[in-house]
Amino acid sequence: MAQPMLKVDGVTMKFGNLVANSRVTFNVSEGEIVSLIGPNGAGKTTLFNCITGFYRPTEGRVIFKDKDITGMKPYRICKLGLTRTFQIVKPLKEMTVKENIMTGAFLNANKRKEAEQVADEILELTHLYSKKDQLAGSLTIADKKRVEIARALATRPDMLMLDEAMAGLNQTEIKEAMELCLALKEKGLTLVIVEHIMEAIMPISDRVVVLNAGEKIVEDVPEVVVNDENVIKAYLGERYHAKSKKS
Ligand SMILES: Nc1ncnc2c1ncn2[C@@H]1O[C@H](COP(=O)(O)OP(=O)(O)OP(=O)(O)O)[C@@H](O)[C@H]1O
Ligand SMILES: [Mg+2]
Repeated sequence: MAQPMLKVDGVTMKFGNLVANSRVTFNVSEGEIVSLIGPNGAGKTTLFNCITGFYRPTEGRVIFKDKDITGMKPYRICKLGLTRTFQIVKPLKEMTVKENIMTGAFLNANKRKEAEQVADEILELTHLYSKKDQLAGSLTIADKKRVEIARALATRPDMLMLDEAMAGLNQTEIKEAMELCLALKEKGLTLVIVEHIMEAIMPISDRVVVLNAGEKIVEDVPEVVVNDENVIKAYLGERYHAKSKKS
């Protein structure tokens, strides 16, 4: 079997007495879409921060493409091909959509023309071309989230980690975001997705990792996870369980 692209090995993150992540272990293989779910405060964003170098975990290791990246600077991890987006979007408001995307491209591009070419390609891929000259600050939340993904994609990642990229979107926009995730997978990207909208992520995920109070409680294919008693109790509730059984 191929080596996993990402190995999260016993990651613990403490803030004083608060244990936000407790010995979390899971792998992600090349080409997979793996979702990370769990209630508010379960430790999902903290784990993203530990994996992508924004925090150095208190214990444990993070291995990406056979390299130990634990505590490495985020820009170095990004250069290795692991990029993330943020739960709270951070567009460069006074810059245009295209310029925002170019900032991502400059991670690898040396010349402006090169960065522009990458940005044009990503604008097409993310259906933002018609808005390329608008100021990012003037966009709707859905488009701001799309720019966030586009800017991350411009760094040419092998693995993209999305932190609630669909929150606040309407049904049509959620469908478009799901299609984009599948299109990225088709292009060979590996995705790790944090999301609360179960209807959106269960159909597109190969596997689901469930966190509760900082601990991994279940890791399996979506069909198993939605019927798992512990997951229903901790997070999903009867509503989604019943709904998914009917459909
Ligand atoms: N920098 C920090 N300092 C102290 N405590 C923190 C810090 N970041 C997160 N926490 C705490 O760690 C726990 C996990 O938070 P985290 O943001 O990772 O949860 P989450 O699963 O992403 O939640 P949500 O679904 O609401 O985004 C929470 O109790 C939170 O208050
Ligand atoms: Mg979060």
